[in-house]
Amino acid sequence: MAGIGNATMYRVAGIVGSLRAGSYNRALFRAAVSALPSRLQIVEAPILDVPLFNQDVEDAGDPEAVAGLRQAISGADGVLIFCPEYNAGIPGVLKNALDWASRMHNGQRVLWDKPVGIMGASDGRFGTTRSQMAMRSLLPQLGMRLMPTPAVMIAQVEELVDDDGNLSDEKTRERIREHLEAFHHWIDVFARAERDRES
Ligand SMILES: Cc1cc2nc3c(=O)[nH]c(=O)nc-3n(C[C@H](O)[C@H](O)[C@H](O)COP(=O)(O)O)c2cc1C
Repeated sequence: MAGIGNATMYRVAGIVGSLRAGSYNRALFRAAVSALPSRLQIVEAPILDVPLFNQDVEDAGDPEAVAGLRQAISGADGVLIFCPEYNAGIPGVLKNALDWASRMHNGQRVLWDKPVGIMGASDGRFGTTRSQMAMRSLLPQLGMRLMPTPAVMIAQVEELVDDDGNLSDEKTRERIREHLEAFHHWIDVFARAERDRES
């Protein structure tokens, strides 16, 4: 975090919960990057190479991809999750990455106390409502501070992208902007409380 004028700049780690090259949730991530308020920075916390969780592997030491994921999250003031929906739930690759990141490592849990927001897009009619509901019970279990509103649940997303696979629908982009503005405020509430405690 760093101060600029009256507003504080915060860094956000973005987790895209799909490994697919043409992912709609990655398009959502790109739309968030382009709509970012000047007081937020976003860096991706990549999950592409994170192996399936295995406690024996964990005991032998973090694989490189897990160390990278942990580092991206621990250096951030908040986490934004771009969440697809598989079979009315959270895709395995995303849950797997969160399982790794949730573990105590060198006396620290990187997800603990982190403000978190969720957005999601699907080509179904429910627009990731059900996977986001599952996330809403999971994330507080990990000690995360979940922003309750505004929701971004994009249904039938294939109708909202242009030929280059970018989210071009202006109403959707506006909802993303609103979510990001609210998320800056959400991070700020906890960061201010922390600063007050320390002063
Ligand atoms: C195994 C599997 C299960 C799916 N289940 C759902 C579902 O329950 N609800 C839904 O809206 N879409 C479902 N879909 C369609 C996804 O929304 C669609 O594939 C979407 O593009 C995935 O996100 P991505 O584009 O970011 O990869 C499913 C897709 C797969 C591969």
